[in-house]
Amino acid sequence: MVSLDARRIGQLENRDTLEAKLGALREGDMIKAQVRRFSPGEQPYYETFEVPYQKWMRVLDVLIYISEELDSDLSYRWYCGSKMCGTCALRVNGREILACWAAAEPEMTIEPLRNLPVIRDLTVDRRPYEKRFLELEPWIHRDEPYPGFPEPLTHREMRFTSKALDCISCAACYSACPVVGLGDLTRFCGPAPLVQLGQAALDPRDSRERSQELIEQASIFSCVSCYRCEEVCPASIPIVSKVIEPLKALAYRTARKKPRHPQTFLGIIRRRGRIDPSELVLRVQGLRALARLRWAVSLLIRRKVNPWATVFGRPIPGIASVRRLFRTFLRTS
Ligand code: SF4
Ligand code: SF4
Ligand code: FES
Repeated sequence: MVSLDARRIGQLENRDTLEAKLGALREGDMIKAQVRRFSPGEQPYYETFEVPYQKWMRVLDVLIYISEELDSDLSYRWYCGSKMCGTCALRVNGREILACWAAAEPEMTIEPLRNLPVIRDLTVDRRPYEKRFLELEPWIHRDEPYPGFPEPLTHREMRFTSKALDCISCAACYSACPVVGLGDLTRFCGPAPLVQLGQAALDPRDSRERSQELIEQASIFSCVSCYRCEEVCPASIPIVSKVIEPLKALAYRTARKKPRHPQTFLGIIRRRGRIDPSELVLRVQGLRALARLRWAVSLLIRRKVNPWATVFGRPIPGIASVRRLFRTFLRTS
């Protein structure tokens, strides 16, 4: 087996890591920034700028150089410059970053966030995202009157909320989420609104019944736990394990009518020992899946579903242990 260090040496030699790429830059070397430009009513295009590298240069410094020294009317947004306000998120080489925090690279393709309308160049309209999270009323609703300060709270009670409170509302995760990109097909509200909601809904003082809005308005069970949101979160919030999964559990536990998606999901795992996307889609969507023929075909083409495995696939070899786990879980829950 190749050790981690040996792999790193290989990466460094091949200049694959950011460290290796930056190590190749000296002050004054030219950085090539290919920036997506767009103005309303015009076709988008990419414009290439050359910017002299300076030590510790960030993506934001490159953008400032372009607008101030190269006299460009490039549109982008930033405010605090120190990873606090969340306004400078965009994509560099296909990955969501904060411009004020990410190091400049020798060659960069700089684009606006996805899943939000572009107003101009790198500036997106955040209103659709803000509308989604405001609809979920992400503030504490109390049955009991406020008892006064301080309120006794334990670390254990606040273990999920405290993670969600680190959110700087940058919408990087919203851009990275592949399910948000499906739009009206799922009506999934996205990871960022769920993190905002988690700040209140996972707080022990919140007494609002949230299952209906989590299932219907937020469509929380459309999340496929792919972890793309977590990978890009600049605040390192464990979005899936500490916010979305606890919210899913809350929705399932408190729902009067149990949502079909998690029940189907569990049923498939119990029978097969693994998830089967085609069966999940067919059983959750039912006849609606057939009505959405174009969508079903696109899932087939992208190999997201495999009807052959659904019909002829056998359970995994250790299925007896999986079923035993289910029996234990059902006895103890
Ligand atoms: S884990 Fe869920 S919320 Fe996060 S990117 Fe994947 S589908 Fe979206
Ligand atoms: S959860 Fe992370 S990536 Fe998403 S909006 Fe908050 S800080 Fe940004
Ligand atoms: S400018 Fe505020 S987070 Fe980047």
